[in-house]
Amino acid sequence: MAGGRWNASYDSVLNVLPTYRGAEWRRLTLTRAGPILPCPLHLELGMGISVYPVTLAFAAEVGDIDLSQPLDAANVEAVKQAFWTYSVLVFPDQHLTVSQHLAFVRYFGPHETTIAAYRGDEALRLPAEIADVSNIAPDEKIWGRESRVRMYQLGNRLWHTDSSFKRLPALASMLYARSIAPIGGHTEFADCRAAYDALSQAMQRRITGLVAEHSIFNSRARMGFTDFSDHERRVLPPVPQVLARTIPQNGRRSIYLASHIGRIFGLSDAEAKSLVDELLAHTTQRQFVYTHRWRLHDLVMWDNRCTMHRGTDFDDLRWRRDVQRATVSDIAPTCEQEGIQVAA
Ligand code: OGA
Ligand code: MN
Repeated sequence: MAGGRWNASYDSVLNVLPTYRGAEWRRLTLTRAGPILPCPLHLELGMGISVYPVTLAFAAEVGDIDLSQPLDAANVEAVKQAFWTYSVLVFPDQHLTVSQHLAFVRYFGPHETTIAAYRGDEALRLPAEIADVSNIAPDEKIWGRESRVRMYQLGNRLWHTDSSFKRLPALASMLYARSIAPIGGHTEFADCRAAYDALSQAMQRRITGLVAEHSIFNSRARMGFTDFSDHERRVLPPVPQVLARTIPQNGRRSIYLASHIGRIFGLSDAEAKSLVDELLAHTTQRQFVYTHRWRLHDLVMWDNRCTMHRGTDFDDLRWRRDVQRATVSDIAPTCEQEGIQVAA
């Protein structure tokens, strides 16, 4: 095979992959795919954790780690390396209190406050540092068909990335399953780095430097939910975000997209809408999507800078699905990170 970045390490990486169903398949795939694939080099570091790819380069399971305990620096570094290599990490069989869940977030940066706290329309079931993504009301009963929180949360069924409607959007989300629906209620993830790489060069050039306006009220309006008070609109004004970005830790380019997008600066509304629809359709093609089928006590962590996700249907008036999210803020607004000036 022609010389490439990762070729020299294929054998050593494969040697440390434990033998299990599918290892042969992976060996073939890695070898055949050649030098352009990012290879999970962190497996060579010899840390305590185990990383099992679920897809070639997008999602992986992480074992031999107990997130309820303080992590040593080497394990934190190994998780970070896995996270920059993949974009979705699954930690099965974790048993976490809310404070242990939050402690894990803090290895990655400051945590966000849930927007439900800004909304102030309902009592919170969980502390404000946790986004309650469940279908459970503060009285611990399943929400009612007409409940406002239900209308709000149904927006999670649209492709999005977390908190892109905030000036400082989310870097990582950690969603933890305390109870799950027996059927349905999966979470789908789209790989926006692979989707960027698969764009034509002309399209890559076109979206580089474009800035879109994101607002939570755009995604809710897409679902026909427009019943917001002036106060709610005032506390979450639209914010500018780039449409394409570079992930500093690995140098990969990525599309940055969400159903929260309204207008794009410098384009007519019609041009903006068709561009956003085209990019959404492109990025969510099956080959870029990993579907996570939840097991009880999974913690799933994703990089909001280079993925989109959406919840899938389940019988939400019947089954309790108690999933709770802790979220790490990004370090700066995306325009600032990309060196793009926008009028305030
Ligand atoms: C989220 C989210 C989808 C789901 O937690 O940010 O969008 O499947 N969740 O619960
Ligand atoms: Mn989300």
